[in-house]
Amino acid sequence: MSDNDQLIRLAYASQSASSSSGGGTAVDREIPRILRSCKNNNPRLEIGGVLHYGEGYFFQVLEGPAAAVDHLYERIAKDPRHQDVRTLERRPIRQRRFPDWSMKYVPMESDVERLLKRHKLERFDPYRFDGDTIEEMIALLVGKPSKDQEPDQDYSRQKKRGSWLQRLLGRA
Ligand SMILES: Cc1cc2nc3c(=O)[nH]c(=O)nc-3n(C[C@H](O)[C@H](O)[C@H](O)COP(=O)(O)O)c2cc1C
Repeated sequence: MSDNDQLIRLAYASQSASSSSGGGTAVDREIPRILRSCKNNNPRLEIGGVLHYGEGYFFQVLEGPAAAVDHLYERIAKDPRHQDVRTLERRPIRQRRFPDWSMKYVPMESDVERLLKRHKLERFDPYRFDGDTIEEMIALLVGKPSKDQEPDQDYSRQKKRGSWLQRLLGRA
């Protein structure tokens, strides 16, 4: 396997360009659009992961082949819908934590707040996440049911990436 194909995970934090105070907000309108892009593009790139939004911040984990993840991340980082995009972690992984999702979306809820309190973070500030917090955050997001979304891909039984034909048949 070449380095380009190495399965990696990249986690970053960013700040939404539109504020989210009050009820229906610009970011609430943007998230479905972002998820539509994920659904359109990520399966073809063999990328999956999770997107979390709360208190004006995004926390996203991208899982997939190194070159594809780096390339997509470059594009995402230039997206004007967020700013101050900072990489928290980029590392090789053996297995995906989100094998069933082109992009699982989990909004901020009370259990996330409990996790933050345990880590003595008064508010959701993913810029301050260290390796342990990222790991706990991922475990929490893996376990959370997702509203209005169905799993849309399946890498769970895929040990090695097969040919395009195997992948096509596997998904049919
Ligand atoms: C927080 C955030 C996360 C995003 N995640 C993804 C992603 O996982 N996949 C993706 O294709 N686009 C993602 N986007 C959108 C891209 O920046 C870009 O708009 C999109 O890929 C363009 O492709 P399209 O024209 O097919 O929509 C994200 C944008 C934001 C603001």
